[in-house]
Amino acid sequence: MDEMRSGATTGSLAAGGNVPAASSPQVQAQTSASAGEAGLLLEAFETFTRVSTSLESAFEQLKERAERLSEELEVRNRQLKRSLRERAEARNYLRRILEHLPCGVMVLDTRGNVTLCNPVAAALLGEPEVRPNRARPRARHVRNRTLRECFMNPHSPAGASGETEIAHEIHGQKRILALSGTPLMDSAGSHIGTLHIIRDVTQIKALEEQNKRGERLSAMGEMAVELAHEIRNPLGSIELFASLLENELPRDTDPSRWASNIRIGSRSLNNIVSNMLHFANPLTPTFTGVDLHQIVREILSFMEPITSQRDIQVQVHLEATHPTIRGDRELLKQMILNLVQNSVQAMPSRGSLILRTRDLTSRLDNTQSGRMELSIEDTGLGIAPENLGRIFDPFFTTNKNGSGLGLSVVHQIVEQHAGIITVASEVNKGTVFTIAFQKVGEIPNAA
Ligand SMILES: Nc1ncnc2c1ncn2[C@@H]1O[C@H](COP(=O)(O)OP(=O)(O)OP(=O)(O)O)[C@@H](O)[C@H]1O
Ligand SMILES: [Mg+2]
Repeated sequence: MDEMRSGATTGSLAAGGNVPAASSPQVQAQTSASAGEAGLLLEAFETFTRVSTSLESAFEQLKERAERLSEELEVRNRQLKRSLRERAEARNYLRRILEHLPCGVMVLDTRGNVTLCNPVAAALLGEPEVRPNRARPRARHVRNRTLRECFMNPHSPAGASGETEIAHEIHGQKRILALSGTPLMDSAGSHIGTLHIIRDVTQIKALEEQNKRGERLSAMGEMAVELAHEIRNPLGSIELFASLLENELPRDTDPSRWASNIRIGSRSLNNIVSNMLHFANPLTPTFTGVDLHQIVREILSFMEPITSQRDIQVQVHLEATHPTIRGDRELLKQMILNLVQNSVQAMPSRGSLILRTRDLTSRLDNTQSGRMELSIEDTGLGIAPENLGRIFDPFFTTNKNGSGLGLSVVHQIVEQHAGIITVASEVNKGTVFTIAFQKVGEIPNAA
C-alpha cells in the first residue's frame, strides 16, 4: 500500500512535463497558477497520506483489540462452561444425596408450594416427588389437607425432640410421622420458605410401647413370683395332710379317694405354680451329675396316684448304660413331670404311658456316641398337625384348665442342658416326645 501511494505522488509530479513554457507573461501567470494548484494538490496528498496512515494505525489498534476481546471472550466462555458443568454436577450431587437420604425432605416456599420433595417424603406422605434440579416446578400445594395444615402451622404440638408427631394412613397402613421444620433464608437474609424433615417413627413408637409393656410385665412377674412362693407353702401342707389322711383311712373307700383327689389336685396346682415361677424367672441351673433313670422313677412314683386312678398302664424301658448327664436335678424333674403330666392329660381314661431310655450310636461308624435319648410316649389324643408348630409357645393350650406354660418351660430346660427335643404325634393314636442329651464322661473326642 505504501508503494502504491508514493507511486501516485511521483506520477502526478511527472505530469508537470505538460506545463507551458515560462517565457510569456500569460504563460508565467499560468505557470504560477499551476504551481499554486500543484501545491494544493500536494498538500491534499500529504493530508490524505497522513489521514490514511492514522487510519491504518487505528485499524491496526482496532484489529489488536478485536483479537484481545475474542481471546477474552473465549476464556469467559470456557469459564462459563466450567461453571455450568460444576453447577450441574452440584445439582446432581444434591439430588443423589436427597434420593438416598433415609428420611423425607420437603421444601415449601412462603406460599406453601412444594419446591422439593425427595422419594422418601413422597412415599411417606403419598405426595408426588419434586426433584431439586427442576428449574421452576409447577406451583402445587401438599394434597393431603391435614398434612398441609401441619406443614403450614409451625405451632402444632411438638414432641420432646421438638418434632411434631402425626398419625398418617398410607396405602391402608397407619404410620406415625415425626416432622421438624427449619426456616430457609436467601443470601440477603429474606425468608424464602421452610425445609421439613420427615421421619417414619412407627417402629420406634411400637418398640417404646413394647418396652413399657415389658416393664409392666416384669413388675407383674416379680409380684407373681412373690405370690407363687406364698401359695406354695400352704399347698405343700395341704398335700402332706391329705396323704396322712389317705394313709389313715381304709383303702378303696370314698373318704380315702377324696383324700387322694386332694393330694392329686394340690400336686397339680404345685406344678402350675412351679411352671409360672420358672417362666417368670428362669433359674440359672446348678449343674451336677444327675442319674436320669433315678429321676424317671421318682416322677413315676409321684404320678402313681393319678395314673392308677385313670387306669393308665405304665411301661418303663430304661436301657441306656451309665445314664448320668450333667444337669440341674430340680429342673430335669420339672421337665419330665411336665411331659408325663401332658401324656396323662391326653389319656382321660385308660391308655399306655411308655418311658424309654437308650444309648445313641454315632451315625458315622455305628459306635457309641456318648449321647443318650429319653422318650415319653402315650397312646392319647394326639396333637393336630396345625397345632404342632405352636405347642412350645408360651400360653398355647388346648386344655380347659391349662396355662400353656408346661412345654415352654420344658423347652427352656432342654436348652439349658444343651439337649435336643423332638415330637411326633398322630391324632387319636398318640404322641412321643424325645430328648437327646450328652452323657457325663462320654464326650466324644473332637479329633
Ligand atoms: N402328650 C400330649 N398329647 C396331646 N397333646 C399334647 C401333649 N403334650 C402337649 N400337648 C398339647 O400341647 C399344648 C401345650 O402343652 P403345655 O404343657 O405347654 O400346656 P398345657 O398342658 O395345656 O397347660 P399346663 O401349663 O398346665 O401344662 C397342650 O394344651 C396340648 O394341646
Ligand atoms: Mg402341660
